[in-house]
Amino acid sequence: MTNILLVNNERKWIEDIGRCLFENGYNTFYAKNTSEALDDLDRTGIDIVIADIMAPKMTGLTLLSVVNQNYPEIPVILIADAASMDEAQAAVKEDAFDYLVKPVGESALLKSVNMALWHQRAMTRTSEAVDSSESSLQDEALFSAISSTFHTIGRILELKDPLSAGHERKVASLALSIAKKMNLSQRQQDCIYFASFLHDIGKLLIPSEILSKPSKLTPCEYAMVKDHVSRGCALIEHIKLPWPIQDVVYQHHERLDGSGYPEGIMGDSIMLEARILAVADVIEAMTSYRPYRPRFDIRVALKEISDNRGRLYDESVCDAVYSLFRDDNYQIEDDPLGHRMVIYK
Ligand SMILES: [Fe+2]
Ligand SMILES: [Fe+2]
Repeated sequence: MTNILLVNNERKWIEDIGRCLFENGYNTFYAKNTSEALDDLDRTGIDIVIADIMAPKMTGLTLLSVVNQNYPEIPVILIADAASMDEAQAAVKEDAFDYLVKPVGESALLKSVNMALWHQRAMTRTSEAVDSSESSLQDEALFSAISSTFHTIGRILELKDPLSAGHERKVASLALSIAKKMNLSQRQQDCIYFASFLHDIGKLLIPSEILSKPSKLTPCEYAMVKDHVSRGCALIEHIKLPWPIQDVVYQHHERLDGSGYPEGIMGDSIMLEARILAVADVIEAMTSYRPYRPRFDIRVALKEISDNRGRLYDESVCDAVYSLFRDDNYQIEDDPLGHRMVIYK
């Protein structure tokens, strides 16, 4: 049973949210203020915290930083009103899992809680699976645990951003095909494949309203979207994996000429794995529908790659892409979970 701690002293708030969660099978606990909340966190196995950003005594933001410090595995969802929305957005940029705006609708609440729960369980499972391997990758069961966990994370991202459904799986499939075409080592292929599933994980922390916004983003909203890179790295930094996946995730929006983000690094300073992921990411995104534009034909995506070969995108990666699409008639498709890792010697 999932235990959810609600923190606020506003009776109606507690009743409305509590009833909705209870009717949907969640155990709820109540704390009138943040010090009561800390007592509950010490005593009870809380899975998720939902706190009003203006909760009395200590604000929801202070509670957020205490929870993140002492219970980093517990996701915190903040409830804001129109006046405190800027603070909530800033908090999501920092450490909050999500925020919801009053009046909180049932479907938005349940969606956010579901995502928080799946996220928490997926991250815990991956860490446990890798811990139990004593860092040796010699167990087929471990491969399958990592593989299915990453697929689960991909599904969670789809819940958060349904309009980009399948993005991670298709990028994984294409990036792996590019890596194979370039004859990269098995370890590099595995790294690219799994990094693809996680590359946009930071979007879990970007409010759904921004990800699904059908019109142009404001500069502030765009800055939040760009921040998915750093936030994604922070989310996975404690997972011990035998590949430098965090670095690949961190660099997947960097560009050869230094025009990318977050660091603006150039050329070979960008890992080859990240240069491959970047190209697969662009091709998949351009050939998929987005709320603010139609999908482009693959020829348009390939022209973007060829126009910027050597300027934004790695030349050898671009050549592998042309060969795949023109010589091998490659079709972008969902990853069928067909990639099998081998045992490293
Ligand atoms: Fe991204
Ligand atoms: Fe992406």
